[in-house]
Amino acid sequence: MDHHNRLYIAMVGLPARGKSTIASKLRENLVRDGIKARIFNNGNLRRRYIRKDTSYAEFYDPSNQDGVGLREKIAFMNMDMARRYLESGKGQVAILDATNASLKRRKTLVQRLQGHPLLFIECINNDPEILEASILRKIDLNEFQHLSAEEAVASFKKRIHYYQSIYVPLSDERNFVKLDSLYNRISAERIQDPIPHYDRIRDFLVTDTVKHLYVIRHGETFFNLENRIGGDSELTKKGVWQAEALAAHFQHKKIPIIFTSKRVRTIQTAQPIQALQACCTIIPLPEFNEIDSGICECMSYEEIRLKKPEVYRARQADKYHYVYPQGEGYSTMKDRIDLGIKKALYLSCNSENIMIIGHRAVNRMVLSHFLYRRQEDVPYIYMPQDRYYHIVATQDKKLFELRKY
Ligand code: F6P
Repeated sequence: MDHHNRLYIAMVGLPARGKSTIASKLRENLVRDGIKARIFNNGNLRRRYIRKDTSYAEFYDPSNQDGVGLREKIAFMNMDMARRYLESGKGQVAILDATNASLKRRKTLVQRLQGHPLLFIECINNDPEILEASILRKIDLNEFQHLSAEEAVASFKKRIHYYQSIYVPLSDERNFVKLDSLYNRISAERIQDPIPHYDRIRDFLVTDTVKHLYVIRHGETFFNLENRIGGDSELTKKGVWQAEALAAHFQHKKIPIIFTSKRVRTIQTAQPIQALQACCTIIPLPEFNEIDSGICECMSYEEIRLKKPEVYRARQADKYHYVYPQGEGYSTMKDRIDLGIKKALYLSCNSENIMIIGHRAVNRMVLSHFLYRRQEDVPYIYMPQDRYYHIVATQDKKLFELRKY
């Protein structure tokens, strides 16, 4: 194997910043490109090798010598395994997945991982809401099972706090990329050595990829029957039946999270699906709420035509850019929908299947995020209630299909 094509990547960042998701996305994409890559994760090794409880926050206190020693031991074990992986010729890219937050730890990495270039990737995300949601995902881990949800959250936050006290962002390292891990944006980079596969890696880092995304519109509601828009109407009998049919349809696929809006109709559609899954969380995101039709909320299209003809006409003339008085338009929804998608991808942690249960206008915007459509076409994308869209968007495959359930 070509000796020059080998690379160490070390992740950097506080806990719950998306490091492991990025690491696994990187590994999968490299492997798909025929590049042998492996992840060396300190947390997993710690949970496997240290018999005693390491979940309590004080284990991470930098002044707890016992904890520091054990964590160092784990870090060294992983560094040695990563070195053997590259030196033996078995692998080409070794990804060290840990916080690597302190200067001291990073110096050790530089000293121990010689012979091949080392690239640091720092994951930064300080969105408080995303952080809360990621922490809730983390406490599902086995190591927190003996604690109540509140105790586990408090303990994990304390752990973050200890890491914060030793955290030094990247600045003097020879090769690094800083990544906004929510928006998949590179905010800084410095490359002083030739880094193999670097162009590919950068592309992976900034691209939204989904292995299987299911975009579903909620089932029929009482408002739908009357052609009324907006509001917070419940599902009809037929709507409930549609949700149950969806549940049966997806029963044999693993759906770990369902993202919905905050509206009753999307949550009611998600509930039967959740009920048939072994382990599934519903996360309602306000970003996926239906277009706010302002002064027209809860009116039917016919009422709008008769009582607000100026709204009716103006919207028909340019549906994408039209903004309802005191409400929204497709164009003004874009930022929040994009944010909702970023949040959903971030919280899904690179899972095989992601499900979004949204609304007519919302789903049109979600689809157009993954498949280019002219702006003026977006408000006319077909969004039925008896079918769903299945999207695959990876580096080497794009698939878009409308499927019956
Ligand atoms: O009728 C359901 C609905 O989701 C409304 O709440 C929303 O205003 C509308 O569809 C969006 O579709 P259009 O942009 O075609 O009016």
